[in-house]
Amino acid sequence: MVEDLSPARPRPALAVPGTEDFDRPSSARVYDFLLGGTSHGAVDRELGREMVKAVPLVVEIARENRSFLRRVVTFLARAGVDQFLDLGSGIPTMGNTHEIARRVLPHARVAYVDVDPVAVAHGELLLGDCPGVSVSWADLRDPEQVLATSAVTDVLDPSRPVAVLLCSVLQHVADADDPASVVAGYLERAVPGSALAVSHLSGDDARVDVGSLRALSLAYPGGGVTPRSASELATIVDGVRLVDPGLVYAAQWRPEPPRPGRSVGEPCCGHRAAVGFVG
Ligand SMILES: C[S@@+](CC[C@H](N)C(=O)[O-])C[C@H]1O[C@@H](n2cnc3c(N)ncnc32)[C@H](O)[C@@H]1O
Repeated sequence: MVEDLSPARPRPALAVPGTEDFDRPSSARVYDFLLGGTSHGAVDRELGREMVKAVPLVVEIARENRSFLRRVVTFLARAGVDQFLDLGSGIPTMGNTHEIARRVLPHARVAYVDVDPVAVAHGELLLGDCPGVSVSWADLRDPEQVLATSAVTDVLDPSRPVAVLLCSVLQHVADADDPASVVAGYLERAVPGSALAVSHLSGDDARVDVGSLRALSLAYPGGGVTPRSASELATIVDGVRLVDPGLVYAAQWRPEPPRPGRSVGEPCCGHRAAVGFVG
């Protein structure tokens, strides 16, 4: 049983007027399709299939990112971090951040944030009245506003360390919106001992046709993705002390040992990832 430390709060609206554009595919729903979920529409499936055709590795890339998220949350919870701000959290699927963290720390608290109303609505449905966990509709590009959102302040105590998770989302932040300064906006409000975990679509991996992924993703209402090189990602995570193995492909970040009888396959590609601590 998890102790309820959260004050009573009004339920946030399920969707923000004007954001429900179901005629266009969304990143959250296409990603759900690639992961084998059920929360997507015909336009999302259509784009997802085009992505698979253009870049057959895209399903493996999505799975490896999700697997990185699971490993990093477990790692951070084992390190004693019990508060998580999951930015661009997506449509809930198998192994959500609060479920993973609470396997290690049953009192862990998680604030999910996403700009997609379907992701937020599904989060609300899944969570119900789950104490110590919230989901809010917000745009992560505005750290001040996100951190002032009542669903976030109800759940997270900023005077204690918080893990900021940015998994497979910063490629949705264009260069014009300066992803490094967005990340810095969260880190400068985080106390020492806080953590940052980033995974990001690589822009310099010959094994993945990121040009095609970028072109296809132009169908998203927020615009196409911006894959980034290892050196660009190094700048984004510059504000934290990286833990081993540093900035690597997501599949190479503290991989789990293979199951007995299974050989280790060629690590896939697509996302680079890094984890570090503030202070
Ligand atoms: C590829 S999914 C990643 C989901 C999850 N973080 C994971 O790693 O499994 C990207 C998510 O980021 C969300 N997103 C994109 N831009 C965003 C923004 N500016 N603010 C908040 N969420 C955003 C999308 O709606 C989508 O749910």
